[in-house]
Amino acid sequence: MHIAVLVGSMRRNGNTQALARRFAEGAGRDNEVEIVSVSDFVVNPCTGCNYCYGSEGNRCRQDDGMSEIYAKLAEADVIVVASPVYFYGISASLKAVVDRLHTPMRKTFRVKGLSLLLVGATELPDLFDSIIAQYELVLRFFGLEDLGRVLVGGVKDEGDIEGSKALDEAYELGLSIGRATLERL
Ligand SMILES: Cc1cc2nc3c(=O)[nH]c(=O)nc-3n(C[C@H](O)[C@H](O)[C@H](O)COP(=O)(O)O)c2cc1C
Repeated sequence: MHIAVLVGSMRRNGNTQALARRFAEGAGRDNEVEIVSVSDFVVNPCTGCNYCYGSEGNRCRQDDGMSEIYAKLAEADVIVVASPVYFYGISASLKAVVDRLHTPMRKTFRVKGLSLLLVGATELPDLFDSIIAQYELVLRFFGLEDLGRVLVGGVKDEGDIEGSKALDEAYELGLSIGRATLERL
């Protein structure tokens, strides 16, 4: 399987990146895994122009880093959404990528399942609730399967996640996604 891990932090060595890397180590045992980090691309927000509904190949009017991300996501069987919590939501950089999927082009995608990796500074019991609600609505709307989640509170500064058992959970989650998953999906 092809797995794309969309990392939504601009911190190249931040907690989200560390969690995503550990997931990728586990998932990489059985799959081709690519980490696609928003820090490596410039992706403008969707302008809502709907140009892509009439353009050849549903091409977007904006010519930016999203062209490369479309190509990467198009060949993924599984997409992993990894983000820091920003004001109870995903980061704006990642939301820009998600919003740019409001295009008929996504019908050509082969994705069958999603997975969610989140980090936040506080340990509030409701820290992840709004992101999870959105994630579950998206799963239902697109008929995708939830392949698992790792939610990590109490990590604020770069490196805070080191030594956390959440890294092991991410590795195990990655390991659990393999050929059997694709056959089931
Ligand atoms: C703009 C911004 C908003 C944030 N909002 C929250 C929040 O609502 N709740 C929380 O627990 N942490 C919040 N944080 C803290 C980050 O989620 C936390 O520092 C996280 O570890 C950053 O992940 P990273 O190292 O991958 O960038 C916020 C941080 C920033 C920069």
